[in-house]
Amino acid sequence: MDTDRPASSKMFDISDTDSGISSEITEAEPEVNSPTYSSSFMDPIEAAMKPDNVLEKFVEVSGKRYLNDNTVKCYLPADREEGIREHDRHYIDRIVWEGNYSAPVSENLSLGASVLDVGCGAGAWVIDTALDYSESVFVGIDIVPSFPENHPPNTVFFKCNVLNGLPFPDNTFDFVRQGLLLVGIDWQLWRDKVVSELTRVTKPGGYIEIMDVYEESTNPGIISGKIDTYLFENLRKAGINPASGTGVIKTFNGFKDKVIVAPIEVRTYHLGKKAGRIGEATLKCMVDAYRAMKIIFAHIMRVTEEEFEEILIDFEKECNEATLCKTRYRAIIQKRLDAYDN
Ligand SMILES: C[S@@+](CC[C@H](N)C(=O)[O-])C[C@H]1O[C@@H](n2cnc3c(N)ncnc32)[C@H](O)[C@@H]1O
Repeated sequence: MDTDRPASSKMFDISDTDSGISSEITEAEPEVNSPTYSSSFMDPIEAAMKPDNVLEKFVEVSGKRYLNDNTVKCYLPADREEGIREHDRHYIDRIVWEGNYSAPVSENLSLGASVLDVGCGAGAWVIDTALDYSESVFVGIDIVPSFPENHPPNTVFFKCNVLNGLPFPDNTFDFVRQGLLLVGIDWQLWRDKVVSELTRVTKPGGYIEIMDVYEESTNPGIISGKIDTYLFENLRKAGINPASGTGVIKTFNGFKDKVIVAPIEVRTYHLGKKAGRIGEATLKCMVDAYRAMKIIFAHIMRVTEEEFEEILIDFEKECNEATLCKTRYRAIIQKRLDAYDN
């Protein structure tokens, strides 16, 4: 692999002025409050944490394993079941998006590129993409070490907190991607600290791709609307921007001397039987995610875990009667060929 050449000599064929980004994205950036961990929606999990005991990597709450770290917002458990769900969800993403990425990096990946996945979780994207491109090297980083022990030889995992910076030299990677990290990370910290890091470690001409939640559900029913209201309100209170598409574009547009930002792409995920097998699989994944967060939902909705189980049964029924839609976006950002970090 040639690590010294620029990632790509092919720049977007849109200029800054005619990309239409600034005129297209007029919506105000969503307001998010500063983190308030003490009254956070993670209270039942945080109560079980032992911050003074660094040797205790995980704590168990209600039969689920969580990272023993009260400085991060890992409200999804870090266990095998969640790893399996992440892998299932990854394959749904792959189908909905007709591929693992949207950036024009295929040629580089075939030739041999260096790739970084920030917040890689159980490594579904890293492993799947690495199997497609054996000439490329894939690095996954995450604060939770759930990357599988058995992984392709062209993949490697590092445990690290992205908020403390990325442990790589400037201009290292041809392609840096981040998937669904923003639904679990402080928005202001991401905007103030992480964006410059993502840009720094990308080679001139290389691409950054962010995939995350675009907007709150469309076509919500009574139950799904109620679940979303509680979840989104509490995410915002915890400093998380739960629908970050416009904010991401606006943030990268603030670095115009370093990057070129392409128009955002949005895809719809249909949940429920009426959308066929993919709809059933997407709904199952959603129900499993809500179930994995049962302890948090019981806390914020002020119901028992058993009552939340019943809400989930009604949620499933509702989605099978009238298809619920969720949207995700992919934002593609190219580091300018003349933006050499040093
Ligand atoms: C919703 S999961 C997404 C995982 C994976 N990218 C995917 O698409 O399946 C979010 C991931 O971000 C990780 N994460 C959260 N905060 C982090 C941080 N500060 N540094 C590194 N990883 C973090 C979590 O541990 C989790 O694995």
